[in-house]
Amino acid sequence: MKIIMLGAPGAGKGTQAKKIAAKYEIPHISTGDIFRANIKNGTELGKKAKTYMDQGLLVPDELVVDLVVDRVNQDDCTKGYVLDGFPRTIPQAEALDAALEKMGQKIDYAIDVDVPDENIINRMSGRRACVDCGATYHIVYAPTKKENICDNCGGGLILRDDDKPETVKKRLDVYHEQTQPLIDYYTKAGALRTVDGTIDIDEVFAAIVKILEDK
Ligand code: AP5
Ligand code: ZN
Repeated sequence: MKIIMLGAPGAGKGTQAKKIAAKYEIPHISTGDIFRANIKNGTELGKKAKTYMDQGLLVPDELVVDLVVDRVNQDDCTKGYVLDGFPRTIPQAEALDAALEKMGQKIDYAIDVDVPDENIINRMSGRRACVDCGATYHIVYAPTKKENICDNCGGGLILRDDDKPETVKKRLDVYHEQTQPLIDYYTKAGALRTVDGTIDIDEVFAAIVKILEDK
């Protein structure tokens, strides 16, 4: 099962992708997480990516495409995977399709988690991420058991650098301009499925499971 998560920043792509990956035992591949891990480890890729991410801009296609194509070619991806945050531009989608075609594969589902812009700023300002393991929480909608301590690993929680309101606004503009056209792209490919992302996290997941198992 090869799945792409679409949706605005903060729509809940990562939250749902993790649940899908756990239920169907397939890898969760998040380009945002890959870049953040590179930033944390001080790699060249991380240094380059950070200059774009901190401004709410997309990292250039050439820095991301090969990385994902290499990843989906790894052995643990034969059963499928859930891509979160990629593709984000039409050229990225075309590059992915070309690479998959060579492998005799295609994307089965592009799931658009639909949340209006008004809800996004509120979501992002309440999001907290673990400095150690990257797990994400929300102070109201997905709280930790102990305040500011990661349930997973006991690490401390922070507000992501790019979750400040002015950067979130820029990320939303970039989303509408560069990523939203993918909705048309995957509609034409017959892969698009839309779920309402404004409802409770478990209800969104139930809607996704229904889509994946209704076939
Ligand atoms: P990335 O990390 O992919 O960020 P994003 O797409 O902006 O998405 P987010 O991680 O912010 O949100 P999400 O939809 O995963 O929401 P979440 O589940 O956390 O990318 C960051 C940057 O990296 C980009 O800006 C770009 O610079 C670069 N980048 C990455 N990939 C790239 C690519 N392919 N090309 C170029 N550049 C790239 O949920 C948000 C919050 O809401 C959480 O607190 C959560 O607990 C809560 N929540 C989730 N669902 C619900 C719900 N149903 N109800 C209430 N609260 C909810
Ligand atoms: Zn943690």
